[in-house]
Amino acid sequence: MNEVRLREDMAQLGKSLYDRGLTFGSAGNISAKCADGWLLTPTNSCLGRLDPARISKLDPQGRLLSGDPPSKESFLHLAMYEERPQSAAVVHLHSTHSVAVSCLDGLDEHQPIPPITAYYVMRVGDLALVPYYPPGDKALADAVRARASKHHAVLLANHGPVVAGNTLEAAVNAIEELEETARLFLMLQGHRTRFLTGEQVADLQRRYPS
Ligand code: 13P
Repeated sequence: MNEVRLREDMAQLGKSLYDRGLTFGSAGNISAKCADGWLLTPTNSCLGRLDPARISKLDPQGRLLSGDPPSKESFLHLAMYEERPQSAAVVHLHSTHSVAVSCLDGLDEHQPIPPITAYYVMRVGDLALVPYYPPGDKALADAVRARASKHHAVLLANHGPVVAGNTLEAAVNAIEELEETARLFLMLQGHRTRFLTGEQVADLQRRYPS
Protein backbone atom coordinates (compact mmCIF):
# COMPACT_ATOMS: atom_id res chain seq x y z
CA MET A 1 0.00 0.00 0.00
CA ASN A 2 1.38 3.43 -0.84
CA GLU A 3 2.44 5.73 1.97
CA VAL A 4 -0.09 8.49 1.30
CA ARG A 5 -2.94 5.99 1.51
CA LEU A 6 -1.44 4.40 4.66
CA ARG A 7 -1.25 7.82 6.38
CA GLU A 8 -4.88 8.47 5.46
CA ASP A 9 -5.90 5.04 6.77
CA MET A 10 -4.12 5.68 10.09
CA ALA A 11 -5.98 8.98 10.50
CA GLN A 12 -9.30 7.47 9.49
CA LEU A 13 -8.99 4.46 11.80
CA GLY A 14 -7.76 6.71 14.64
CA LYS A 15 -10.86 8.87 14.21
CA SER A 16 -13.08 5.80 14.13
CA LEU A 17 -11.57 4.53 17.42
CA TYR A 18 -11.91 8.01 18.93
CA ASP A 19 -15.51 8.53 17.77
CA ARG A 20 -16.55 5.27 19.43
CA GLY A 21 -14.82 6.06 22.73
CA LEU A 22 -12.09 3.45 22.33
CA THR A 23 -9.48 6.18 22.75
CA PHE A 24 -9.68 9.68 24.18
CA GLY A 25 -7.51 12.69 24.93
CA SER A 26 -4.01 11.99 23.66
CA ALA A 27 -3.92 8.35 24.79
CA GLY A 28 -2.89 5.53 22.48
CA ASN A 29 -0.70 5.26 19.41
CA ILE A 30 -0.81 3.55 16.03
CA SER A 31 2.04 2.47 13.75
CA ALA A 32 2.29 0.83 10.33
CA LYS A 33 5.19 -0.30 8.16
CA CYS A 34 5.80 1.49 4.87
CA ALA A 35 8.22 0.79 2.02
CA ASP A 36 11.33 2.35 3.59
CA GLY A 37 10.53 2.39 7.32
CA TRP A 38 7.42 2.83 9.41
CA LEU A 39 4.87 5.46 10.35
CA LEU A 40 3.92 6.25 13.96
CA THR A 41 1.46 8.69 15.48
CA PRO A 42 3.19 11.71 17.05
CA THR A 43 3.55 12.00 20.82
CA ASN A 44 0.71 13.81 22.57
CA SER A 45 -1.48 13.66 19.48
CA CYS A 46 -5.18 12.87 19.61
CA LEU A 47 -5.96 9.81 17.49
CA GLY A 48 -9.26 11.44 16.57
CA ARG A 49 -7.61 14.47 14.99
CA LEU A 50 -4.48 13.19 13.21
CA ASP A 51 -3.02 15.19 10.34
CA PRO A 52 -1.74 12.52 7.89
CA ALA A 53 1.09 14.81 6.71
CA ARG A 54 2.45 15.27 10.26
CA ILE A 55 2.56 11.57 11.23
CA SER A 56 6.12 10.63 12.25
CA LYS A 57 8.18 8.56 9.84
CA LEU A 58 10.98 6.42 11.29
CA ASP A 59 13.70 4.32 9.74
CA PRO A 60 13.87 0.57 10.47
CA GLN A 61 16.12 1.32 13.48
CA GLY A 62 13.56 3.73 14.94
CA ARG A 63 15.26 7.05 14.05
CA LEU A 64 12.96 9.93 13.13
CA LEU A 65 13.10 10.72 9.41
CA SER A 66 10.28 13.24 9.12
CA GLY A 67 7.11 14.53 10.73
CA ASP A 68 6.37 15.48 14.33
CA PRO A 69 8.26 13.91 17.29
CA PRO A 70 7.07 10.29 17.59
CA SER A 71 5.10 8.57 20.34
CA LYS A 72 7.04 7.92 23.54
CA GLU A 73 6.16 4.24 22.96
CA SER A 74 8.23 4.03 19.76
CA PHE A 75 10.59 1.49 21.41
CA LEU A 76 7.62 -0.71 22.21
CA HIS A 77 6.36 -0.63 18.60
CA LEU A 78 9.89 -1.29 17.33
CA ALA A 79 10.25 -4.27 19.68
CA MET A 80 7.06 -5.79 18.21
CA TYR A 81 8.33 -5.32 14.62
CA GLU A 82 11.77 -6.71 15.39
CA GLU A 83 10.40 -9.81 17.08
CA ARG A 84 7.51 -10.28 14.62
CA PRO A 85 8.80 -9.59 11.08
CA GLN A 86 5.41 -10.67 9.68
CA SER A 87 3.62 -7.85 11.52
CA ALA A 88 2.77 -4.73 9.49
CA ALA A 89 0.99 -2.65 12.14
CA VAL A 90 0.79 -2.15 15.91
CA VAL A 91 -1.99 -0.47 17.89
CA HIS A 92 -1.86 0.56 21.54
CA LEU A 93 -4.92 1.91 23.37
CA HIS A 94 -6.01 2.85 26.87
CA SER A 95 -9.47 1.43 26.11
CA THR A 96 -11.46 1.37 29.33
CA HIS A 97 -12.43 -2.28 29.78
CA SER A 98 -9.03 -3.65 28.81
CA VAL A 99 -7.40 -1.21 31.23
CA ALA A 100 -9.85 -2.22 33.96
CA VAL A 101 -8.92 -5.89 33.49
CA SER A 102 -5.23 -4.95 33.49
CA CYS A 103 -5.73 -3.51 36.99
CA LEU A 104 -7.34 -6.64 38.51
CA ASP A 105 -5.35 -8.29 41.25
CA GLY A 106 -4.32 -11.93 40.88
CA LEU A 107 -4.53 -12.18 37.06
CA ASP A 108 -2.93 -15.21 35.45
CA GLU A 109 0.02 -13.72 33.53
CA HIS A 110 -0.25 -16.49 30.93
CA GLN A 111 -3.98 -16.07 30.44
CA PRO A 112 -5.26 -12.78 31.87
CA ILE A 113 -8.57 -13.27 30.01
CA PRO A 114 -9.84 -16.84 29.52
CA PRO A 115 -11.24 -18.09 26.18
CA ILE A 116 -14.77 -16.69 26.49
CA THR A 117 -15.77 -16.66 22.82
CA ALA A 118 -14.59 -18.09 19.50
CA TYR A 119 -13.78 -14.68 18.04
CA TYR A 120 -11.59 -13.82 21.00
CA VAL A 121 -9.60 -17.00 20.34
CA MET A 122 -9.48 -16.31 16.59
CA ARG A 123 -8.57 -12.61 16.63
CA VAL A 124 -6.60 -12.21 19.87
CA GLY A 125 -5.51 -15.75 20.75
CA ASP A 126 -2.85 -16.10 23.35
CA LEU A 127 -2.85 -12.88 25.38
CA ALA A 128 0.12 -12.28 27.72
CA LEU A 129 0.18 -9.95 30.72
CA VAL A 130 3.20 -7.61 30.92
CA PRO A 131 4.16 -6.32 34.40
CA TYR A 132 3.74 -2.61 35.10
CA TYR A 133 6.41 -0.15 33.94
CA PRO A 134 5.91 3.57 33.32
CA PRO A 135 4.76 4.64 29.83
CA GLY A 136 7.69 5.18 27.47
CA ASP A 137 10.13 3.34 29.76
CA LYS A 138 12.72 1.24 27.93
CA ALA A 139 12.00 -1.57 30.43
CA LEU A 140 8.40 -1.64 29.20
CA ALA A 141 9.58 -2.11 25.60
CA ASP A 142 12.00 -4.85 26.76
CA ALA A 143 9.21 -6.65 28.63
CA VAL A 144 7.06 -6.54 25.49
CA ARG A 145 10.02 -7.73 23.39
CA ALA A 146 10.45 -10.77 25.65
CA ARG A 147 6.88 -11.88 24.84
CA ALA A 148 6.43 -10.58 21.28
CA SER A 149 7.64 -13.58 19.29
CA LYS A 150 4.96 -15.78 20.89
CA HIS A 151 2.21 -13.20 21.42
CA HIS A 152 0.81 -10.67 18.95
CA ALA A 153 -1.41 -9.33 21.74
CA VAL A 154 -0.21 -8.25 25.18
CA LEU A 155 -1.90 -6.48 28.07
CA LEU A 156 0.26 -3.95 29.93
CA ALA A 157 -0.61 -4.04 33.64
CA ASN A 158 -2.36 -0.86 34.86
CA HIS A 159 -1.97 0.61 31.38
CA GLY A 160 -3.66 -1.06 28.39
CA PRO A 161 -3.47 -3.39 25.38
CA VAL A 162 -0.90 -3.58 22.55
CA VAL A 163 -1.79 -5.62 19.48
CA ALA A 164 0.20 -6.32 16.29
CA GLY A 165 -1.37 -7.43 13.02
CA ASN A 166 -0.38 -8.48 9.53
CA THR A 167 -2.30 -5.43 8.27
CA LEU A 168 -3.39 -2.20 9.94
CA GLU A 169 -7.01 -3.27 9.69
CA ALA A 170 -6.25 -6.67 11.28
CA ALA A 171 -4.47 -4.99 14.22
CA VAL A 172 -7.42 -2.62 14.77
CA ASN A 173 -9.97 -5.42 14.49
CA ALA A 174 -8.04 -7.53 16.98
CA ILE A 175 -7.67 -4.77 19.57
CA GLU A 176 -11.40 -4.02 19.26
CA GLU A 177 -12.17 -7.70 19.82
CA LEU A 178 -9.91 -7.65 22.88
CA GLU A 179 -11.68 -4.59 24.27
CA GLU A 180 -15.13 -6.16 23.85
CA THR A 181 -13.91 -9.41 25.40
CA ALA A 182 -12.51 -7.49 28.36
CA ARG A 183 -15.96 -5.92 28.75
CA LEU A 184 -17.58 -9.39 28.71
CA PHE A 185 -15.02 -10.67 31.20
CA LEU A 186 -15.89 -7.86 33.61
CA MET A 187 -19.64 -8.44 33.10
CA LEU A 188 -19.15 -12.11 33.93
CA GLN A 189 -17.25 -11.49 37.17
CA GLY A 190 -19.20 -13.22 39.95
CA HIS A 191 -21.26 -15.30 37.48
CA ARG A 192 -20.68 -19.00 36.97
CA THR A 193 -19.21 -19.07 33.46
CA ARG A 194 -18.61 -21.83 30.92
CA PHE A 195 -15.40 -20.93 29.11
CA LEU A 196 -14.33 -22.69 25.89
CA THR A 197 -12.53 -25.96 26.59
CA GLY A 198 -8.95 -26.68 25.53
CA GLU A 199 -10.35 -28.95 22.83
CA GLN A 200 -12.65 -26.21 21.47
CA VAL A 201 -9.75 -23.75 21.43
CA ALA A 202 -7.50 -26.25 19.58
CA ASP A 203 -10.28 -26.87 17.04
CA LEU A 204 -10.57 -23.10 16.35
CA GLN A 205 -6.80 -22.82 15.98
CA ARG A 206 -6.86 -25.63 13.41
CA ARG A 207 -9.76 -24.12 11.48
CA TYR A 208 -8.50 -20.53 11.57
CA PRO A 209 -4.69 -20.53 11.88
CA SER A 210 -3.34 -17.02 12.51
P1 13P B 1 2.19 9.21 23.24
O1 13P B 1 1.32 10.44 23.26
O2 13P B 1 3.65 9.53 23.43
O3 13P B 1 1.91 8.38 22.00
O4 13P B 1 1.78 8.32 24.48
C1 13P B 1 0.45 7.98 24.66
C2 13P B 1 0.32 6.67 25.34
O5 13P B 1 -0.66 5.98 25.10
C3 13P B 1 1.35 6.22 26.29
O6 13P B 1 1.19 4.90 26.63
